Parts: sequence; structure tokens; C-alpha cells
Amino acid sequence: MPADMDGKVALVTGSSRGIGKSIALRLAKGGSNVAVTYQRRSAEAAKVVDEIRGMKREAIAVGANITSREEVAEMVRSVEGRFGKIDILVNNAGLMKRHANSLEISDQDWKDILGVNLIGAYNCIWAVAPGMVKRRYGKIVNIASTSGLGNNVGGLLAYATTKAALIMLTKKMAMDLGGYKVNVNAVAPGAVRTEMIHVGRTEEEVQKMIEERSALAALKRISEPEEVANAVAFLSSDQSSFITGQVLMVDGGMAYYLSHSV
Ligand SMILES: NC(=O)c1ccc[n+]([C@@H]2O[C@H](COP(=O)([O-])OP(=O)(O)OC[C@H]3O[C@@H](n4cnc5c(N)ncnc54)[C@H](OP(=O)(O)O)[C@@H]3O)[C@@H](O)[C@H]2O)c1
Repeated sequence: MPADMDGKVALVTGSSRGIGKSIALRLAKGGSNVAVTYQRRSAEAAKVVDEIRGMKREAIAVGANITSREEVAEMVRSVEGRFGKIDILVNNAGLMKRHANSLEISDQDWKDILGVNLIGAYNCIWAVAPGMVKRRYGKIVNIASTSGLGNNVGGLLAYATTKAALIMLTKKMAMDLGGYKVNVNAVAPGAVRTEMIHVGRTEEEVQKMIEERSALAALKRISEPEEVANAVAFLSSDQSSFITGQVLMVDGGMAYYLSHSV
């Protein structure tokens, strides 16, 4: 595998576990030093840091609630203080809540989901992009979801709406930052084997969902986190130097997207 991110510094939000952890490890494998960030699970983040150090890359763990601008600013200050720069920002941290009835979503749930998935991602761009603009180099990858493009999974009104907004944030930021040599793209995964697919579902319902999603995919299965990480690595490296404002779907070829023109 080419080490095409040699000497780069990446900040991956929500990399204590799940997809974010796979992204942090994959970027390290590509040559990047990594800031592993988390909200609560410091012990799990510390293990990811150890794993990256075992790969002979530098890594630190930083905790911050990305819904708070102050905490994000402090997080970015400590990463830039340690590494001197941030070349790659992956907005991966996300919050999913399921609501059986779309008319009964509490004000607090809306604020929580919007706060992490949309405003949290913006907060991180707000804090990291000025350094990228100054150095005329940056790669920003936002982790959206196929639900943000309109899929048939129920119970996700608030989550899907924030992911759709994150896709528009990606396009608008790509236009605004392109002149400063900063690429901004999104990856839209389908179902991925992490804790998130268990939220609001019994074990039986999880198995049923996996079977249904697999049947709809051309590749007849759901995704592993490493497969999303590979797409993020491509968009974080100079291999994608002329790609910006795009949404790369990592969904195994969902039938309803493949069978309709967009
Ligand atoms: N899994 C899927 O099927 C799927 C499909 C499409 C898109 N996605 C998207 O992919 C991304 C990662 O998903 P995942 O499945 O890996 O999720 P996950 O297992 O639930 O992990 C979520 C991560 O986000 C962090 N986080 C949550 N709220 C935060 C906050 N307020 N501030 C800072 N960090 C916060 C968590 O930190 P702690 O560990 O400290 O709690 C954790 O590292 C999300 O954006 C998700 O929407 C997932």
C-alpha cells in the first residue's frame, strides 16, 4: 500500500470506536500522524493511540464535545500545539436516534442530533479550516449517510435530515474553500457493522435489518468499517487532488439508487 499521506497530520472526530477508529488506523497506515478524538470513551481512544504508535506513527487522544465551539477550539489548539498543523479533518463523530413516530420527536432530540451531526461538523471546520487556508493545503471529509440522500429506512427523520444538510454543507464549503486549495468531500455509507446499527433495535431487529439491507445491495451484504475507511483515505490523500464537493457512496450498490437516474 503506498504511504501517500507521509508526514501529514489528521484529526478524526469520534475515532474512539466504530468507523472513526478504522479511519484513524487507515490514515496512520497511509503515513499520517493522527489526533484521535472522542467525547466520553477515553480508554478506548487511548487504545487506538497505542495501536497507531505501534505502527510507528505519532498519535494523541483528545476529548471534546463537538457541539461546543469552545471545546472544539481547545481541541484544535492542543492538536496544532502538538503537531504544528492539521492537514486532514475527518468529521466522523455522529449521533443517531430512532423515532417510531416522526411527529413525536422532542425538541431536545432535534437539538442533540443537529448539534453533533451538523453543527458539530461545522464547528470543527470553523476551527481547523483557517490553518488550512493559511497553508493553502487541506482535505476535509464529512461522513454523511445514504439516509441523507433518501433511503427507505424508517424512524430516521431527524438523523437523515441532518445528514442531508451535511451534504449541502460539504458542497458549499467546497465552493468557498476551493480557491485556497482545500478539498471538501463527503462519504455516504449504507449500513456499517458498528454499535450504531444497534441503537433503538433489538438483536432480532438488527439481524432483520442486516438481511433486508443485504438483499437490496448489489454486493449482497452490509459494510465493514474498514471499507468506509478506505474511501476516506482516498479522499484524504493527494490521489483525489482534483475531486471536491462530491459525495462518494459506500453502500455496496443499493438497488434503488442504481435503478433510477439522478
Ligand atoms: N454505522 C452505520 O451504519 C453508519 C451508516 C452511515 C453513516 N454512519 C455515520 O458514520 C459515523 C460514525 O458512525 P459509527 O457507526 O462508527 O458510530 P458509533 O459507533 O456510534 O461512534 C460514534 C462516535 O462519535 C463520537 N461522538 C458522539 N457524539 C459526540 C460528541 N458530541 N462529541 C464528540 N464525539 C462524539 C463517539 O465518541 P465516544 O466513543 O467518546 O462516545 C464515537 O467515537 C457517524 O457520523 C454516522 O452517522 C454510520
